Amino acid sequence: MHDAFAVDPLTVFAPAKLNLFLAVTGRRPDGFHELVSVVASLTFGDTLTVTPAEGFSLTCTDPEVPADESNLVLRAARAFAAATRWPGGAAFRLEKRVPAGAGLGGGSSDAVAALRALQTLAGPAHALAPEPLAELAAQLGSDCPLFLRGEPVVMRGRGERLAPLPADAARRLRGRRVLVFKPGFGIPTPWAYGRLAARAPGSYLPAAEAEARLAAWCDDPTAPAEALLFNNMEPPAFAKFVALPTLLDRLRERGGVEPRMSGSGSACFVLLGDGTDPAPLRALIRDAWGESAFVQESRLA
Ligand code: C5P
Repeated sequence: MHDAFAVDPLTVFAPAKLNLFLAVTGRRPDGFHELVSVVASLTFGDTLTVTPAEGFSLTCTDPEVPADESNLVLRAARAFAAATRWPGGAAFRLEKRVPAGAGLGGGSSDAVAALRALQTLAGPAHALAPEPLAELAAQLGSDCPLFLRGEPVVMRGRGERLAPLPADAARRLRGRRVLVFKPGFGIPTPWAYGRLAARAPGSYLPAAEAEARLAAWCDDPTAPAEALLFNNMEPPAFAKFVALPTLLDRLRERGGVEPRMSGSGSACFVLLGDGTDPAPLRALIRDAWGESAFVQESRLA
């Protein structure tokens, strides 16, 4: 008997991201924070496979990741079905590679991968236009809208206002090699923002200063990607999690590189020259953080 649901499964790539520049500029009345951030996706990420099914379900290759209704993939699917009135369903299989609690946007990217897959499954009669799709993504998480873009973007507001970088500035970022590394522990995003708020107002960078800094980098065609790196979420995170500054100082002193934390942490990264051998850096990371550390080489997309 022909099964109308027996079509090929859909597979969607869900990249990780790095905040190359992250200036939290103040707190909003709704409790969220305003930021100015340059974010780039990586060539490294999760894979989400979708098969048409009755209802929504999720399995994940990582037993540590909750595959219940709290998972952003299922929350995205439910929100998509509610917004589009699409009567279909989907069985999701998530091949998880991006660690959680890292500031790499893994969960947010999975949610957007689910939306992309459902847009295809649901077909043109139910698919959302770009604007409502971006609004739906923003409701799921501050980092979700950026994953609807393929190139490095400037993120403003709480993350929902996106603008492309000037072409020359984007060229200085795209394809750059990176080494991403995370200790065995993660940092919960609400905790990180809470610590920043507790140190206010000195912990924020005024918006005008953040914009001036970013514009200066964009306007200087000789400024390398390294000159952009900034993250004012580092001091509160480093005060509590001393393993982070301990390693980052060592990488600076002995590795001759300029490491940064991504987003609210705990993952950090360095930009690598094309001919750079990352082995000595990997050795310093393993030495400081042990075997439970996650280490991944990738490129900015
Ligand atoms: O939007 P998302 O679910 O990723 O946010 C998680 C938490 O991070 C929020 O509840 C808030 O505490 C904090 N956050 C913030 N300002 C942002 C993004 C996140 O305060 N722009």
